[in-house]
Amino acid sequence: MKAAVLSLPILWLLRRIFLPYLWKDIDFFYRSTRYLKFVENSLNSDPPFLMLDMFYQQVSSRPQKTFIFYQDEVYTYKDIDLKSNQLAWTLKQYTKLQEGDCAAVFLGNEPAFIWTWLGLAKIGCPMACLNYNIRAKSFLHCFKSSGAKVLIAAPELQDAVEEVLPALVEDGVQVFYLSRESPTIGVDSLLDKMDFASDESVPRSYRSQVNGQSSALYIYTSGTTGLPKAAIISQGRLLISSSISTLSGLTSEDVLYIPLPLYHSAGLMIGVRGCIQQGASLVLRKKFSVSQFWDDCRKYNVTVFQYIGELLRYLCNTPKKDNDKDHCVRLAIGNGLRADVWKEFIQRFGDINIYEFYAATEGNAAFFNYTGKVGAIGRTSFLFKFFRPYQLIKFDVEKEEPVRDNAGHCMNTANGEAGLLIGKITEKTPFVGYAGDKSQTEKKLLIDVFQKGDLYFNSGDLLMEDKDGFIYFHDRVGDTFRWKGENVATTEVADVIGMTDFVEEANVYGVAVPFHEGRIGMVSIKLKEGKNFDGEKLYAKVVEYLPNYARPHFVRLQDAIEVTGTFKQRKVGLVQDGFSPLTIKDPLYVLDENEKCYKPLDLSTYNALVDRKSKL
Ligand SMILES: *[C@@H]1O[C@H](CO)[C@@H](O)[C@H](O)[C@H]1NC(C)=O
Ligand SMILES: *[C@@H]1O[C@H](CO)[C@@H](O)[C@H](O)[C@H]1NC(C)=O
Repeated sequence: MKAAVLSLPILWLLRRIFLPYLWKDIDFFYRSTRYLKFVENSLNSDPPFLMLDMFYQQVSSRPQKTFIFYQDEVYTYKDIDLKSNQLAWTLKQYTKLQEGDCAAVFLGNEPAFIWTWLGLAKIGCPMACLNYNIRAKSFLHCFKSSGAKVLIAAPELQDAVEEVLPALVEDGVQVFYLSRESPTIGVDSLLDKMDFASDESVPRSYRSQVNGQSSALYIYTSGTTGLPKAAIISQGRLLISSSISTLSGLTSEDVLYIPLPLYHSAGLMIGVRGCIQQGASLVLRKKFSVSQFWDDCRKYNVTVFQYIGELLRYLCNTPKKDNDKDHCVRLAIGNGLRADVWKEFIQRFGDINIYEFYAATEGNAAFFNYTGKVGAIGRTSFLFKFFRPYQLIKFDVEKEEPVRDNAGHCMNTANGEAGLLIGKITEKTPFVGYAGDKSQTEKKLLIDVFQKGDLYFNSGDLLMEDKDGFIYFHDRVGDTFRWKGENVATTEVADVIGMTDFVEEANVYGVAVPFHEGRIGMVSIKLKEGKNFDGEKLYAKVVEYLPNYARPHFVRLQDAIEVTGTFKQRKVGLVQDGFSPLTIKDPLYVLDENEKCYKPLDLSTYNALVDRKSKL
């Protein structure tokens, strides 16, 4: 008896020391396996049970349940079903869209984004989700790479549409505004036609060819080179994507607030898709607003919201209020949260469960933080590795390529050492690639990694694994950096800056700023012989062609742009140098929104930035 009583605490202690996470590992493994089984069964049934079928199931089991809250509008599952029927019939009547053809949307976060998606799915058409910040050349590149035949745009984006309209018309693209009339010649209106369309359900025969391999979405990601790439999201991938919301514990009782843009995978594939999976409600807002965030949460009784690290920081930076803890949010799902912000956030806004995950839109490796380890993006275990065969390999940051041994093989990193995340491409963990340019897809592949002929997806992210199996985000490699939750492709920015007449060469990179996630843009410029730097001209160019988050905030003038042995621009040293006028002898400039120019960066401006006194 005595022995038994004694041994209990000892057992407990032993478990704490040796297998502190075993139970959580097994629980997580069990739940993820069950989810994957659901996906497998769905794909194997005849006809396959896809995202749209899941939606139909919710419509029939809870027709009057609220699906979308938007401003003061409320839409039930049934409402959205009928609306998407009307859209499907309208497109059938007024466009040449056939099953398998793509249509692109250029819309903000509004209910139309969702019923258009479902309407297109009903006639077997994939949807390309254009970022509403892109313009001109970028716009055309993105649009064309999806091969879309129809463009559906928000009337507020009229200027951007008119800018590219001649090129679209030349390609025979049909362009619509989501409005009742069109102020633009060559653009038709859609809502007036929908008013007259039937809301009868659309026969399955319109999408009879759609299966797990069919394209469902094109989502744009900033690549390591040049303009954004359209990642192809298959129907199968779309089924798997809601594993994140399911595993994080979203239920049909929840009201999910989606402040992230729907054109990114997090908002659409995890948020909207997750709600459809569970039959939950969601809240949309045209644009994220820091000051309205908690009022919205109270107004709609929000229980779960999606975040990126920046968003929680913005919330923490607002003045404290008495009702900060007055809400019913219990869970936040997202990524990029730093440990210091997380602590501040919980202290201020109450005990909200934070579910951090790591996943790339097009990647085949993902991690979840299911253990509650602060700072970690996830955890590995032998069970997990068996199903998701990923590796961390040694990476040469200077040369921007994996390190290979004498036999030409890559090498795993040791615990505690940052390495490139690669995911083995198998039938169960495929990499579908990008639309259009094949070479973009090939660039993301690594061949002959550990043995001849094996194939891996190159995530472009450096992660670190500690001895207990926790995984931490380290850095992004190569030619992109992240700022305000968006990827910035350095070559795309450099191309724009290269268009100014005094620039001989531009080298773009991101630099860290104290108290901010990600990196802010900086460019090192070599001037043309006999030319002077013109801060107003550069400002005008940058504002015309680049979205806010991609505009370099700092400029450094250099006599020469250093290159690597393989003639790539060297960035590592510049990134480390940062933007301090105390240590950098070259002329430095800073973007000034008020004066609409780049002006010399003096010490007081610099100090205000690093002391958190001026806003970025
Ligand atoms: C939120 O909950 C309150 C109290 O239960 C209820 O009166 C109100 O109608 C709810 N609001 C919404 C938008 O569901
Ligand atoms: C991981 O999850 C736990 C529990 O929800 C949370 O406390 C912790 O902050 C999370 N880690 C990160 C980096 O979000």
